Amino acid sequence: MAATAPFIAGNWKMHGLCAQLDQLRILADGLANHPSPARVAVCPPATLLAQAAHMLMGSRVELGGQDCHCEASGAFTGDISAEMLADTGARLVILGHSERRTLHGETDAMVSAKVVASLRARLEPIVCVGEHREDREAGRAAPVVEGQLAASLPDRLAGARFSVAYEPVWAIGSGVTPSSDEIADVHDAIRRVLRARFGEQGARVRILYGGSVKPDNAAEILRIAEVGGALVGGASLAAADFLEIIAAA
Ligand code: 13P
Repeated sequence: MAATAPFIAGNWKMHGLCAQLDQLRILADGLANHPSPARVAVCPPATLLAQAAHMLMGSRVELGGQDCHCEASGAFTGDISAEMLADTGARLVILGHSERRTLHGETDAMVSAKVVASLRARLEPIVCVGEHREDREAGRAAPVVEGQLAASLPDRLAGARFSVAYEPVWAIGSGVTPSSDEIADVHDAIRRVLRARFGEQGARVRILYGGSVKPDNAAEILRIAEVGGALVGGASLAAADFLEIIAAA
């Protein structure tokens, strides 16, 4: 059971130019004026991280990247290392998002190597898993997620701070969410895997739900027993919506 305050993280994906930094200012001001017990993070595009870190200094909003390379540096044109993210002021990184897995061919083994890299750079990983619609329809949601977890979580995570995000692929950006029972079943399965693998630590790891979380469904989703927070895409882009979700936590 998640006894700690919920963790609400925003994933801006490939959205946001400098002008969007205003939304971070509104978010930080909103949290200052209406304190929430929730832990709050935003993962903007890497191009905005350094400016965002400067702007958010002293605020409650933590920053994260959306991916990293597994090497610290090298001839990897276009890639960004965990060390580089940390150097901007980021403290977290989303790894294994389904858009990386599907559109960039990331395997569980690659995700696991990136998690090791994030720990090397002292970034806290948010490791994403989630089934495709065909898996769900075939009744294989939990086994698919269990398999992803087994291969995406390196042993190095023992003793480290990390979160897992359950994001059913078919719920991302679709406006469709699983039922509360469906979310509860997969979160329970994730908790069992985490406990078996990491013992007491595994009992405390936050398991976030992601996929079409909006102001009007956040409270219901966040009430589910093993849901320890949310990973929010589209609704994290506008500070007003994100603040409503945080208020529901
Ligand atoms: P949406 O909230 O836009 O469905 O995106 C979820 C997601 O992919 C967060 O990582």
